[in-house]
Amino acid sequence: MLTREFRGGHCSVQMSFKRRFREKGESSMSIKVKNNIHWVGKIDWELRKFHGDEYSTHKGSSYNSYLIKEEKVVLIDTVWGPFAKEFVENLAKEIDLKKIDYIVASHAENDHSGALPELMRHIPDVPIYCTKNGVKSLKGLYHQDWNFHTVKTGDKLDLGSKELIFIEAPMLHWPDSMFTYLTGDAVLFSNDGFGQHYASEDMFNDCVDQNDLFQECIKYYANILTPFSPMVIRKIKEILDFKLPLDMICTSHGIIWRDNPAQIVEKYLQWADSYQENQITLLYDTMWDSTRVMAEQIAAGIRDADAKVKVKLYNLAKTDKNDVITEVFKSKAILMGSPTVNNGILVSVAALLEEIRGLKFKNKKAGAFGSYGWSGEAVKIVSERLEASGFEVVDAGMRLTWAPDEESKRSCQEYGREFVKKM
Ligand code: FEO
Repeated sequence: MLTREFRGGHCSVQMSFKRRFREKGESSMSIKVKNNIHWVGKIDWELRKFHGDEYSTHKGSSYNSYLIKEEKVVLIDTVWGPFAKEFVENLAKEIDLKKIDYIVASHAENDHSGALPELMRHIPDVPIYCTKNGVKSLKGLYHQDWNFHTVKTGDKLDLGSKELIFIEAPMLHWPDSMFTYLTGDAVLFSNDGFGQHYASEDMFNDCVDQNDLFQECIKYYANILTPFSPMVIRKIKEILDFKLPLDMICTSHGIIWRDNPAQIVEKYLQWADSYQENQITLLYDTMWDSTRVMAEQIAAGIRDADAKVKVKLYNLAKTDKNDVITEVFKSKAILMGSPTVNNGILVSVAALLEEIRGLKFKNKKAGAFGSYGWSGEAVKIVSERLEASGFEVVDAGMRLTWAPDEESKRSCQEYGREFVKKM
């Protein structure tokens, strides 16, 4: 197993390691994170869908597992089940498995616990530290009565000259989730928190493209953590109240925050606080182009009324759902359009409305639009569903029969201008 260390912002030194990485053809290596902390996880370059088909991972992901070799040896989390054998084989090259004193299971979801059954075949008696809910979830998933030790916020585990402090983080994003803090090194192991689905050989935040990184971070927050925003704020404030020094945040997906780790904490506080940018997003599907033309004309009216607002348009039938949700998250207002079909709305619009309902967005305004031939229920249906999902629907919406002519195009533009006035 190769061991490598990147530190001090000298990302250029990684080139030689990258070359070795490619030449050796090893997809898992140990990476020295800090002092006696080693990354022993798995970079999943191929992953394009996560949570079944629920979350798009355009840039792959990683399952970060950490080995801490102090007087006592601790493994924090494992990797997803399909990589279990490879993970345990690589781990055994890094350390005699029998020398692992403790395992910390921060979160039972399969992407972090999936290799536990394989690992526990080798070391069945090693204690597993997790929350009470963690025991329930792990037993529910694997039906094994391993040597569980339940922990609560503030409980400590002595590693010799350093100790681990556990911090429960229920519903961030499962009932069992917890963070673990390593004293001495001042490292927070945050599991899903502050993570992103981002496969990279450059394992640290100061070594990757910042736009890519923060795009994946905000997408992760928007799609996974939005409903739990009040808890995010409470938990971060609780951790800040401990007044612990913070040198690094080791997430369980994507890169490690070592350069100003507080920056992602500050971002989370912003995102959790009814986040919005100066953006209006139009989301629609169309059958014979009329609703698309309406979207373009409404957008023109919005731009005419407010040159500073960012206006974006997405055809829901052609755009990745998670990318669209990220744009909704950034928006101060959305306009959703559907033609009327069989007295209802198009499936792609209905599907997004269902996603939006569960995400509990706050502090966002909305409107609806759509063309129809004879009955025209779509705008009312969309408006009602947006209202029921917590959006402030500002008007009765914009309906047109058949295809827009020049006069009705001007009406759409006027609707866009009036919509801006209601912001
Ligand atoms: Fe990365 Fe909630 O699992």
